[in-house]
Amino acid sequence: MARIFIISNRVSVPKSNAHPGGLEVVLKATLKHHPCVWLGWSGEVKPHPRTRTVNSHGNSYITTDLSPEDFEEYYNGFANRVLWPILHYRLDLAEFSHRDLSGYLRVNEHFADQLAKVLKPADIVWVHDYHLIPLAKALRTRGLMNRIGFFLHIPMPPPEIIAAMPNHETLIPALCHYDLVGFQTHGDAANFARYLANELGTPAHISRRLGTGDRVMRIGTFPVGIETREFTRLARRAVRSELVQEVSKSVPGALMIGVDRLDYSKGIILRLEAYERFLAAHPERQGKITYLQITPRSRSQIREYADIEQAVSAMAGRINGAYSNAAWAPVRYVNRAYSRTALAGLYRTARVGLVTPLRDGMNLVAKEYVAAQDAADPGVLILSRFAGAAVEFKEGALLVNPYDPDSVAAAMARAIAMPLAERKSRHAALYATLLTNDISKWGDRFLSSLMGTKTFDLEAAEKQTQWPDPANLLPH
Ligand code: F6P
Repeated sequence: MARIFIISNRVSVPKSNAHPGGLEVVLKATLKHHPCVWLGWSGEVKPHPRTRTVNSHGNSYITTDLSPEDFEEYYNGFANRVLWPILHYRLDLAEFSHRDLSGYLRVNEHFADQLAKVLKPADIVWVHDYHLIPLAKALRTRGLMNRIGFFLHIPMPPPEIIAAMPNHETLIPALCHYDLVGFQTHGDAANFARYLANELGTPAHISRRLGTGDRVMRIGTFPVGIETREFTRLARRAVRSELVQEVSKSVPGALMIGVDRLDYSKGIILRLEAYERFLAAHPERQGKITYLQITPRSRSQIREYADIEQAVSAMAGRINGAYSNAAWAPVRYVNRAYSRTALAGLYRTARVGLVTPLRDGMNLVAKEYVAAQDAADPGVLILSRFAGAAVEFKEGALLVNPYDPDSVAAAMARAIAMPLAERKSRHAALYATLLTNDISKWGDRFLSSLMGTKTFDLEAAEKQTQWPDPANLLPH
């Protein structure tokens, strides 16, 4: 029986502490309905890396440790000091070194070796995210001709930005070794197609089907969603939890909430600045609104992340120093992670959801905030126009430019004062959008597109596995 191999930097191993954020949720249906093998980093850094396999509910989880060098060069280095900032349009923050690039390629080769040991010809391979761009190429060089798809969870910037990355001309075209390359939005897909047109001379109109002979690389758009109804049920239950009750009781007036990993792409500083301007412009709201910013630390060994941590806490402290009184503080800034249940309840309690990244692939907090609301008395979503979610949420969210704190401050004032009827109609539009793109169908949509079929059926997919001539692969 063919299997689906999921390859990603982090792996969610059942009954372990490894929880790779959104990935766990978006892959849930695929893991439930098909036999899968999920392979990636264990999350451990060890001088003598080991590989372990865990079997659970018909799936296998193969995880491998990283050596300190691999961790530094592949994860902290090329993936998060070069690809992450550049793909988030932050050329100014990229720190390139040849050593990090070779560490990145080495880890990709290592994953390819692991895969080559266990992959059977009819197995389907689905690779996730920027850590693993060259993996298909590494597999093809080992003679593996399986169907291989790639999904980029983060943005793909215009070619003018990608071209500033040293070695982009070997790295980015390596994506052509996949059979399908998927993006969050049409804008991301179009940027990639334009990159190929510029760099490989492929006319833009045929870039969406690139290849010769039996193999064609296709580009597609697969916006990730959430388990909408399940999250609504979770939020309904969670508001009764002790934590959520305590928060509600301790907040005088309305709550605004932001939940982000501590990352410069999330726009937290500018959001705080907008809030400061809002407080200054609306003295009547002082003491009647509290902004809860939940921000678990992330990638702390990278300098830019340490810098942003300092800057955010300084800014939150400054606002509290200027506006607090003995009974109220305008900002609650929390550096710890909360469970999905606690977050669901807090979202439902908050009158305003603040999601203002400077650039984001999709942003599932925006979607979860909407799903968590009480349809009879919903809160308002303030959403950056630069989050992937803005494409689907044009109608119901208050879309803002996060670089313009005055306009974000104005949106805060509008959201807090919004009449119930408008809140309800906006929420209904957003909720309907969520239901049409529920995550339960996402995996099969990607996999059927990878197999070039209308619906995804693993047995049928197994029978149609092709064996093209490796000489026909593009680019050479
Ligand atoms: O957005 C990309 C992503 O890989 C998410 O899937 C995940 O939640 C986040 O980044 C976590 O990053 P890291 O694995 O570096 O902690």
